Amino acid sequence: MNTPIYFVNDRFVPASEASLPVTDLGIMRGYAVFESIRTYGGKPFRLDEHLVRLEKSADRVGLSLPRSRAQLAEVILDTLARNEFAEATIRVIVTGGESENFFTPTGKPSLIVIATPLRPYPQAYYQQGVKIATAEMERCLPEAKTTAYILGEMALRQARSHDPEIVEVLYVDRHGRVTECIMSNFFAFFDDVLVTPREDILYGVTRQAVLKLAEPLFQVEVRDVLLSELQNASEMFITASVKEIMPVTELDGVAVGKGGYGPNTRTLMDAFREMADRFAKE
Ligand SMILES: Cc1ncc(COP(=O)(O)O)c(C=O)c1O
Repeated sequence: MNTPIYFVNDRFVPASEASLPVTDLGIMRGYAVFESIRTYGGKPFRLDEHLVRLEKSADRVGLSLPRSRAQLAEVILDTLARNEFAEATIRVIVTGGESENFFTPTGKPSLIVIATPLRPYPQAYYQQGVKIATAEMERCLPEAKTTAYILGEMALRQARSHDPEIVEVLYVDRHGRVTECIMSNFFAFFDDVLVTPREDILYGVTRQAVLKLAEPLFQVEVRDVLLSELQNASEMFITASVKEIMPVTELDGVAVGKGGYGPNTRTLMDAFREMADRFAKE
């Protein structure tokens, strides 16, 4: 296989030569935002939405993007063209850049664009559903996609120490509301009513696509969702760019609904597949 080509600041380099100074604030202080975008038919899905979110994340943490949205899109397409992956995940990372005193940015953020071959989750996850567990945790600046996943790393390790098959962890906040998972958004069906948390979450690109698909099919409620309500949920699923729609069949060791995963989740998964296939062929 050819060496992957990454983009670092102003140039394309082989992956083995891609590096940032160790004093970069992304490393020193975790001062960085990013996007993770997948392709269908080799084309980045909802690229503009991802770039708008990157702008918002950067704005929220006081970082300025080193390039315009149009220029970033160009770099992303160029990165894809230089790497011959059938389908790829693209990561766009913007860090605080180098700092002389290890804290104050010098106003020159670093930009990294990485393309890797898409690594889909096991088919069994979609055929049988997955187990998730809850954890009482709140993300800092939840609407911003920062690289701060320390809480998530810890939550997953903790959950897997009890059950190694746990795939995701659902955060529960101080008010008893479920918000989202470490790397996914969360949805539940109460019979034919689809609900998803409304705030204190990362507004997922996949979540948005699913809400659009669901609107003509189901009653949709975007609102606070309490953990205590979930015992009455008939179906649950999580969403994210690479995961798409992943059915959840067990929460904290308790089967969801009637066990197995339900027909409404299946309907949305089929609609999502159709939309993605259409996009790939456009
Ligand atoms: C905290 C969090 N919530 C939700 C998502 C899902 O977002 P998207 O659908 O845009 O991939 C992610 C994706 O990585 C995430 O990290």
